[in-house]
Amino acid sequence: AAATKRIFEIDSESDERIVVKGWVQQLRVQKGLAFMVVRDGTGYLQVVLSGDLANCARTQTLTLESTVAVYGKIHSLPEGKHAPGNRELVADYYDVIGLAPGGQDAFTNKVQEGADPSLLMDQRHLTLRGETLSSVMKVRQAVLDGFRAVFKDLHLTEVTPPCMVQTQVEGGSTLFKFEYYGEDAYLTQSSQLYLETLLPSLGDVFCIQESFRAERSHTRRHLSEYTHLESELAFLSFDEFLTHIETVIVRAVEYVLEDPIAGPLVQKLNPGFEKPKLPFLRMTYEEALKWLNDHEITNEEGKPFEFGDDIAEAEERKMTDAINQPILLNKFPLTLKSFYMKKTPEDARVTESVDVLMPGVGEIVGGSMRIDDTDELLEGFKREGISPEPYYWYIDQRRYGTCPHGGYGLGVERLLAWLCNRYTVRDCSLYPRYTGRCKP
Ligand code: 4AD
Ligand code: MG
Repeated sequence: AAATKRIFEIDSESDERIVVKGWVQQLRVQKGLAFMVVRDGTGYLQVVLSGDLANCARTQTLTLESTVAVYGKIHSLPEGKHAPGNRELVADYYDVIGLAPGGQDAFTNKVQEGADPSLLMDQRHLTLRGETLSSVMKVRQAVLDGFRAVFKDLHLTEVTPPCMVQTQVEGGSTLFKFEYYGEDAYLTQSSQLYLETLLPSLGDVFCIQESFRAERSHTRRHLSEYTHLESELAFLSFDEFLTHIETVIVRAVEYVLEDPIAGPLVQKLNPGFEKPKLPFLRMTYEEALKWLNDHEITNEEGKPFEFGDDIAEAEERKMTDAINQPILLNKFPLTLKSFYMKKTPEDARVTESVDVLMPGVGEIVGGSMRIDDTDELLEGFKREGISPEPYYWYIDQRRYGTCPHGGYGLGVERLLAWLCNRYTVRDCSLYPRYTGRCKP
């Protein structure tokens, strides 16, 4: 008789005979003694086999990533010995449930460190079993839980807008187009427009939904499919909007750091990480240009920045890394932004827009106040050369009881890259999609 335990349930020394089922993550077989580390998705457990149990043919030919059911009792480790959780299972018996291949096809041959990244990406289903990637995915879970908890507290309603749409949000050049029963349709770039239409029915809303961008460029922070956390808020000022964003981010990060599983994982992946201080540094686009020029960082043509220039990824990151704290970069020129963005009351050249920049990554959030006047919105469509017809439902949000409102989108993989100190968002996505990669 043995009680089935999952690894997270096991703590220290116990007389109870238990059985643990999982995958063999590490294996060291000597004469008369064998150690394995078993993983079950909830934790890691060192298992000791001795005597015949170590010497038997089954143990001598056991392979990494095989599944096993191990029976025995838990012992605490003496001082000076190390194993996950400072305890080990002293086995009296074990079964092999599924023997993984050895030799040429052995797990370690498939996922060799330092191998060609594209070959490793072909084996993503196997590399995901590694400790680093699975840690990032556990942190990701806590991040999503954290935002949901904060939004619940603020009385936002979670919704699931459609992914198949017939309108663009962030420019036609990155749309994925497909045939929808004989009509043209797109994979959504952003759920923003749908969220706006829900304000009159549900009040403040949010969604956590995949967005799709046909990004031609290979960069550290662009995926073709990413998890987009978006929110839309009614009846607030631009200033209140900025405060809302920074507060939500800090509270969600707080939640993650306090989580008993994710908190320690963040510290392991990103030693010394601390939640950012409030309020975030507020910097206007024009102040950023001045900062860049003062630091002799040049625009895409190698010249000093001028009003209207885009601050590209590399320059943005140089500035953010140098300042080394979160920045609410705000009031971008109208010419750089989409049709829906509201102009500032004091200067019609700039918009009530914001990007949140984080050290190591740069932009993780883009948001703005929205045009809430029908005629002005129609002008926005005209300026961008977009036919307003397919947007009748979006325009109606202004016609049937308009309100000042704003919203933002946060790239979950980018937030994770910052939080977990990963070089690229590809390390923060299960099966990343980018130019030339749509498998596994
Ligand atoms: O700045 P973006 O394009 O803004 C919007 O889509 C707005 N409509 C959102 C809104 O107001 N509801 O995208 C928002 C965020 C970016 O700041 C970035 O974090 C992430 O989405 N993002 C990407 N992440 C990974 N790969 C890509 N190709 C991304 N494009 C945007
Ligand atoms: Mg943006």
